[in-house]
Amino acid sequence: TKVLLNDKIVEMNQATVSILDRGYQFGDGVYEVIRFYNGEFFELLSHLERFKKSCEEIGIPFHFDLNTLQIDFNNLLKSANFPSGYLYTQITRGTMQRNHLYVHEKNLEPQLVAYTVKEEQRPFENMTNGIKVLLCEDIRWLRCDIKSLNLLGSVMLKNQAASLDAKEAVLHRNGYITEGSATNVFIVKDGKLLTHPANNLILNGITRQVIISIANELDIEVVDEAFTINEFRLAVEAFTSATVSEICPIVKFIENNNEFQIGNGQRGPITEIIQNAYTKKIN
Ligand code: PDD
Repeated sequence: TKVLLNDKIVEMNQATVSILDRGYQFGDGVYEVIRFYNGEFFELLSHLERFKKSCEEIGIPFHFDLNTLQIDFNNLLKSANFPSGYLYTQITRGTMQRNHLYVHEKNLEPQLVAYTVKEEQRPFENMTNGIKVLLCEDIRWLRCDIKSLNLLGSVMLKNQAASLDAKEAVLHRNGYITEGSATNVFIVKDGKLLTHPANNLILNGITRQVIISIANELDIEVVDEAFTINEFRLAVEAFTSATVSEICPIVKFIENNNEFQIGNGQRGPITEIIQNAYTKKIN
């Protein structure tokens, strides 16, 4: 596997970053995961714009040109010997002696790394049969709009879900569903799509935004207002959205060690219509 290290493509074993890198010691950085299908990136520019915005939000100077990055990512993709997969990329603030304070540091050089991972198949099994999720309290911080490398909250919640044989943790804060540990969450109510508004409590997923534009094209109303835990429990359909896991029906959920069904426990018709429209967009 080849790695993009700042502006150079190198072999994996040559792509090294100091242990004093702030990404390593503080999780001081941001990341993106970008899907490619049949040799072409999906929504590359949207991901790069969000990447830049995440950097700006935490004060990492983004001295990468978006056009150059698109070219570099495409060269990296070409160096991979598989047509479908995803690209992982992160930018960290740079290397210095460990100190929470960085504002007086003149010589910080942000480090960008990127590499590709093979993912030949789309997640057809989960997309068709749906997944079981764990409903739990959102223990993360209050800037979930930043795609931060600090993922401990999500890591803890997702592993808690997995230990109960659930594929995702669906999170709630103050009685409202926010999102999943690594996905956005939608429900269907009265023929409308409901999803949490894009504020500081969620990551505004690129897949989420594609789904909203699909719904607009199909005249399915989207209400981006927070919905309650109880609206989730009573939803006729629900699904998660993310770059790699795409659109996954939620058919069961665990709450306080009890298992419940969403709707009739199967993928619903509106979910399927949106999945089909999504498939058209990626082909
Ligand atoms: N997860 N919400 C959270 C908290 C996420 O971590 C993600 C993505 C999403 C969906 O965003 P998008 O549609 O842009 O992929 C929502 C990535 C893929 C991950 O951590 O692997």
